[in-house]
Amino acid sequence: MRPLVFALLLVAQQSLVGTAHAACTLDKVETITTPGFTIDTKDDHQVVEDTINKIKYGLFCENQPSNVDGIDRWFKIPVKSVGIRTPIGSGFLEALGKTSTLKAAASPSSLTNPCIANVGSLTDLTSTSATDAKLDVVFSNKEEDTDGKLSVRVPSDDSLTPLQLAEWVVFVGAFFNEAKNAAALFKQIKSAYECHTGNMKHLKNPPHAYWVQYQKTGDEKHYQFLTNAYEKNMLADAGATNNTKEAPSPDTDIDKFQSAVEDAEAVFDQTELTKDGKKISEWLENFGYKDAPNSKAAFLKQREIYRKDGYRNKNGNSNFPEFALVRPDLVLQDFISILEPEYNKSYTATWLWKLGSTTESTTIIGPDNYDCKAPWMATVPTCSPRTDFTGETDNKSKGSGKDSEKDSTSEGNDKEKKSGSGRTGKIVGGIIGAIVLIALGFVAMHYYNRHRQQTRLRGLSAGGYGESIGLQNASSYNRV
Ligand SMILES: *[C@@H]1O[C@H](CO)[C@@H](O)[C@H](O)[C@H]1NC(C)=O
Ligand SMILES: *[C@@H]1O[C@H](CO)[C@@H](O)[C@H](O)[C@H]1NC(C)=O
Ligand SMILES: *[C@@H]1O[C@H](CO)[C@@H](O)[C@H](O)[C@H]1NC(C)=O
Repeated sequence: MRPLVFALLLVAQQSLVGTAHAACTLDKVETITTPGFTIDTKDDHQVVEDTINKIKYGLFCENQPSNVDGIDRWFKIPVKSVGIRTPIGSGFLEALGKTSTLKAAASPSSLTNPCIANVGSLTDLTSTSATDAKLDVVFSNKEEDTDGKLSVRVPSDDSLTPLQLAEWVVFVGAFFNEAKNAAALFKQIKSAYECHTGNMKHLKNPPHAYWVQYQKTGDEKHYQFLTNAYEKNMLADAGATNNTKEAPSPDTDIDKFQSAVEDAEAVFDQTELTKDGKKISEWLENFGYKDAPNSKAAFLKQREIYRKDGYRNKNGNSNFPEFALVRPDLVLQDFISILEPEYNKSYTATWLWKLGSTTESTTIIGPDNYDCKAPWMATVPTCSPRTDFTGETDNKSKGSGKDSEKDSTSEGNDKEKKSGSGRTGKIVGGIIGAIVLIALGFVAMHYYNRHRQQTRLRGLSAGGYGESIGLQNASSYNRV
């Protein structure tokens, strides 16, 4: 009797599994930001179209449909073995909880994703073909003939806004038959982003800020404002005004640049800087500032110059093009934390760091600040809408230049900068004094240890996806 029941159960179970497999439900999702792709779900396949590059990918679970025309490349999903030639691919995988499918990459050692179990074991796609590596798909930012039918493009398109770019997580999710999960994650990202942006709409005195870059081509020096959709929207959404001011033209005219940038309270820099430990001097030299402390420009006196490569792997490669582009809600909060530090005083910027400090403090990615079992890439903190934040309480020295000397001695230490340099911080500190300080000390140390590991980076060699390559070819994949 018993064996028979058991056998019957077994048969029943197997047929259930079999049915589930064959049926393979494909998620029905719709895009919401006009991101440059569409997903059309049919009974037995899905057409995912890259409308920017006009490529149609056909996705199926069981058997490739034979009666469907116009598909450029077919993929059996879920894909299990993934290669990437663009760092954002790693960010999408991490956000989707699929980092373990990553088997190959162009220049693996330049990847910063701390959840790649063994970077050394990844196949290097610069020397091995996708077919030889037995991959199911390779995510690239341009057509790679060597990847043939396995190649899938994800954008490197400067015309995309931060949210449009991030919605591509749904595109990548479709290859795992998890478009619906991906869409749910993106919805949260979008909602948090729009909430924080909305909270910046009531500033009484919106800050002026520019995203700049110095480039030398041959003998010609270029001084640029970056005004692509990503940079423009990110600054504006963080509350900055006049970031859409015409870029100085011609961009070889240093005087025009200096006068255009003069009203900035903060400058975000994307220049390739190589003199580790002396990057601020290098920056000032590049942009022709000889007497910064006496400059008319407030941002120079305050040394409010920031860069986005403050979160790195041990080799010095920036994490920004990998994780940040996937989480614009967090990047936005990084920008807000600099432009409006009073908005959320417990927020510590992840990617942005202050170039104008006395030390070059950056954070090395590791277990202290990234838990692969509870990854913050896949967790979106909620944001409450508010209309009361006018940015006026901080009385930050917009243009006054008064605090500059004090700042330049203490700002090397992020902790001091966060806890005590604003005027409110000082008043509160003075009144409540020691009690709060002790309590805060414990909290801060705890938070701090978890979140940031201050390191002085010297003699770094940036290669692969890191700042040197990415920043040089800002238009290719490291545009931000
Ligand atoms: C923006 O810049 C222009 C000059 O480029 C200036 O006339 C205008 O007053 C500025 N607007 C604000 C709100 O600062
Ligand atoms: C402020 O930042 C902290 C730390 O990142 C975060 O946990 C919290 O949700 C933020 N608060 C608001 C209102 O956004
Ligand atoms: C900020 O500055 C304004 C005018 O300069 C002043 O009236 C106000 O009291 C200051 N607020 C704080 C919190 O210091």
